[in-house]
Amino acid sequence: MANERLDPLITRVQIERRVQELAKEINAAVPTEGLILIGILKGSLHFLADLSRQLPPSCEIDFLQVSSYRGHKSSTGVVQIRKDLDISIEGRNVLIVEDIIDTGITLTHVLEFLSTRRPNSVRVVAMLSKCKAKGVDVAIDFVGFEIPDEFVVGYGLDFGERYRGLPDISILRDSVPASS
Ligand code: IMP
Ligand code: MG
Repeated sequence: MANERLDPLITRVQIERRVQELAKEINAAVPTEGLILIGILKGSLHFLADLSRQLPPSCEIDFLQVSSYRGHKSSTGVVQIRKDLDISIEGRNVLIVEDIIDTGITLTHVLEFLSTRRPNSVRVVAMLSKCKAKGVDVAIDFVGFEIPDEFVVGYGLDFGERYRGLPDISILRDSVPASS
């Protein structure tokens, strides 16, 4: 069995600073009073927790769970809604909070799905994006870090449900299997 190796990419201090900056960018660009933050489970958990504490307390929080990865490192292209919203977003201003945009398939489906609920406006903040590295063209309003096209874990991001609790973000590599 191949051993997994973690190569540090973004430290917890860099994350903390960037989240503060993102909150300032969002506050300056969006009417944040009564904004609904929609965290896409499970990867956005840590980011949403940190970001929401930098935004006005009148912001509401809800979650949507979608699945596309199912423990693999590449997208299956099939997006399922596994948990719907609890609150109505009709006529409301919404901020989707995502962990990472890779192919953009998940986000495209989420935007389509939410548009059927007739929100007043929908914006997107993603902690990480591989869009530039991959040449993917999706509309993201706020991005924490543009990263290379590598599989990353930590700060909510998992591989087969592991590594989410790591405070730093690292590249997950397969090291050469030990000969035995
Ligand atoms: P997309 O649909 O290809 O944009 O993928 C979006 C979802 O795939 C993200 O919300 C993550 O849950 C997962 N994902 C994409 N890239 C990574 C990664 O590098 N590490 C962990 N999860 C990832
Ligand atoms: Mg996600």
